Amino acid sequence: MNQNLYTAPALTDLSAPDSGKNALQQFAEDVISGLSQYPKTLSSKYFYDGKGSRLFQQIMAVPEYYLTQSEFDVFETHKQAIAQHIAGSEPFTLVDLGAGDATKTKVILKELLQQDARFEYVPVDISGDAMQELNRNLQKELPALQTHAVVGTYFDALPWINAHKPGPKVLLFLGSNIGNFLPEYRSYFIKEVRKHMQPGDKLLVGMDLRKDPETILKAYNDASGVTAAFNLNLLDRINSELGGNFIVDQFMHYPLYNPQEGVMKSYLVSKKAQEVTIKATGKSFKFEAWEAIHTESSYKFTLQQAETLGQEAGLKTAQVFQDEKAYFADLLYIAT
Ligand code: AVJ
Repeated sequence: MNQNLYTAPALTDLSAPDSGKNALQQFAEDVISGLSQYPKTLSSKYFYDGKGSRLFQQIMAVPEYYLTQSEFDVFETHKQAIAQHIAGSEPFTLVDLGAGDATKTKVILKELLQQDARFEYVPVDISGDAMQELNRNLQKELPALQTHAVVGTYFDALPWINAHKPGPKVLLFLGSNIGNFLPEYRSYFIKEVRKHMQPGDKLLVGMDLRKDPETILKAYNDASGVTAAFNLNLLDRINSELGGNFIVDQFMHYPLYNPQEGVMKSYLVSKKAQEVTIKATGKSFKFEAWEAIHTESSYKFTLQQAETLGQEAGLKTAQVFQDEKAYFADLLYIAT
């Protein structure tokens, strides 16, 4: 057992991986530009403060949010084949991008240990708290697992991992996190990840698939209101971190699915005309009655789209693993 925690110099802006700017300053700038535009927008990457991360964990447990259970089903059904495909003859490094609490990854980790695969597990996450918690949890639950948690952004962590962990790599990008990226950034992201891979290295990507629009819509509008609280928490975060005076009750969560583009969009709608002041920005922002702020896009994929995404980045689709309902797919790409 060899567990230690590396703290990378944290970069916080996924869409600008080279910016070394102070996180709070970047947040303030993004809020100014997002609320000064028409239509207004705020980035979903700001959902995940402490409270937001806890709310997302709750979302994963609501019955309507099928994504987590579906990917879990994919892993439960195909864990043997997945483990066989990702473990080669040589020891390898298993990099889990955005590991969080690694609930789903554990299914694969257990199977790899069962198959006596020789590997080191390197979870990567922007949240230091999450990585410390995961370290503790794995020490208890899977003491035989060799783990080295890394705190930082993906493009900060990948070069560091390549420098410190030689040999074959298997990268995981699970949970349809890729669905939050706009199409252009999605292609850029996969191409960038590919640059940090050697031929033969593997990448397993979890993607939510197109399905009955009603099923998708409900997943982002659960009856218990957890998703609404998750979306509205963004305003609370602006209040507490940037000195905003949003009255959260005066906004509502409104999700909408576009079945042609395969995109779930979430909004915060102002229920009345109002003006909000945000101290750290030195500005006030006016909202018309029923004006909306776009806060998140969650793309849903066709298998063809998924394959093309890899192809354009120099990744061959080796296997497509799906659950029985074909709600979710995990694609195994190999760098050519
Ligand atoms: C974590 C990005 C996969 O888009 O489904 C859940 C976040 N937003 N409910 C998603 C989310 C609203 C989630 N991802």
